[in-house]
Amino acid sequence: MDLKKLFGYEGKTVVITGAASGMSRSATELLLELGAEVYAIDKDPIDLPVKKAYQADLSNKEEIDEIINDLPQKIDALFLCHGIAGFKGKELLVQKVNFYSQKYMTESLLDRISDHGSVTFIASVGGFGWQQVYPQAVELINIKAWEEAMKWYEEHPKLIESSYVFAKQCLLSYVTYKCMSQEFIGRKIRINAINPGDTTTGLTDDFNKSTSPTGNAEEGAAMIENIFLKSWNGYAAEPKDMGYPMVVVGSDICSYMSGQLIYIDYGLTSSWTSMALLNAKNKSIEEISKESNEKE
Ligand SMILES: NC(=O)c1ccc[n+]([C@@H]2O[C@H](COP(=O)([O-])OP(=O)(O)OC[C@H]3O[C@@H](n4cnc5c(N)ncnc54)[C@H](O)[C@@H]3O)[C@@H](O)[C@H]2O)c1
Repeated sequence: MDLKKLFGYEGKTVVITGAASGMSRSATELLLELGAEVYAIDKDPIDLPVKKAYQADLSNKEEIDEIINDLPQKIDALFLCHGIAGFKGKELLVQKVNFYSQKYMTESLLDRISDHGSVTFIASVGGFGWQQVYPQAVELINIKAWEEAMKWYEEHPKLIESSYVFAKQCLLSYVTYKCMSQEFIGRKIRINAINPGDTTTGLTDDFNKSTSPTGNAEEGAAMIENIFLKSWNGYAAEPKDMGYPMVVVGSDICSYMSGQLIYIDYGLTSSWTSMALLNAKNKSIEEISKESNEKE
């Protein structure tokens, strides 16, 4: 069996964001190995042998529009991977980078995505519990114009207070809401998200700082360890642990998979679901995680 043929990327046009670092960089390396023609975008320089690399700030609509104008007319797979940590005072920026730009790019490029093509996002275990904000997320999803969406955010400051969590919850809501809509299913375009657990990448230091109430990286690292790793005596993933499965999800191997929110976390969120179903209704991730640690 020809493995490259099985993936189906050979000679295909792939667009991927966030490719300068971390999970997306790993994914790009594999896509290149599999013979894809990769168009990669990041705010930082991309030093991989892609077909074309764009350096742009994807929180900026004008910069996105310029790239969209330049990208090929036919795209087979789109991967939206760029992301930042959720710092106080940066709530709107986090919504733009981690969700709205990704929705905007998807919808701007959808006509160019080939039939049976794929769209794949990197969301996060941080979006766990997305069902609780689904109606509000759908309201936002249905706003087509960038400027109107920015107004919506301004009118909903409480929702975006937990900025990283809400943006990732919007991504998961987007996949759920759109997978059977005519614009996707009508042309058999698959849409999925992976939800990584704790992974050592270019974002690790920022995650540590943004998790600590005082911005102290060491304290934040201990808190993250407590929430994501302690209950299973676990370890942080490497970028390829996320980037490679994501490439599989977007490939022909997963040709019948759409609308899926794939948690890559060694089962941690399934254990949270189990606890929530059995006895921990209405508790926060931190409370459930604390109980899970105490049970061990
Ligand atoms: N690292 C983790 O533990 C973890 C866990 C769950 C989800 N994630 C998500 O994984 C995705 C990939 O992040 P990573 O962990 O590999 O981190 P990373 O920092 O290594 O990669 C993120 C990339 O996004 C780019 N980027 C950020 N803001 C941008 C902007 N405005 N315009 C263009 N590019 C921009 C960065 O330059 C960087 O190259 C992110 O969406 C992140 O939220 C990470």
